[in-house]
Amino acid sequence: MTPVLVLGGPNLGRLGSREPEVYGHLDHAELTERCRVVGEALGLSVEVRQTDDEAELVGWLHAAADAGTPVVLNPAAFTHYSYALRDACAQLTAPLVEVHLTNPAAREAFRHTSVIAGVATGTVAGFGALSYDLALRAVAGLLPA
Ligand code: DQA
Repeated sequence: MTPVLVLGGPNLGRLGSREPEVYGHLDHAELTERCRVVGEALGLSVEVRQTDDEAELVGWLHAAADAGTPVVLNPAAFTHYSYALRDACAQLTAPLVEVHLTNPAAREAFRHTSVIAGVATGTVAGFGALSYDLALRAVAGLLPA
């Protein structure tokens, strides 16, 4: 099983109660379990982590870069302005899939910019929890045979 990190940024720990009309009713624990199950079927050993702390997220990305671990990242609001996160992502040595539950391009103007997209292998957005399934599928497809 190939290890894959699924990392989430600020406020994603509040899924389920956070603006359910926007983000849905699945809570973070349920999303975590879904990623684990979907990953297992793809031969991936998925570890899901979430933090509201930019420095902690940067630290996790440094460790992933050093270990050569593929990453699925929902940078949440950091997507739109964190150059520190972008610079950390640029150091990754394995695939990076940026993922969003919603479609930021269809929302407020400030969400239309992703400072992460330019250093990601690709982006999946707008499909709710299914975005994570698709992102893990992308990681599995990108791994060397
Ligand atoms: C999000 C979209 C971001 O604009 C927002 O700040 C989030 C969640 C998403 O998954 O749709 O926190 O990344």
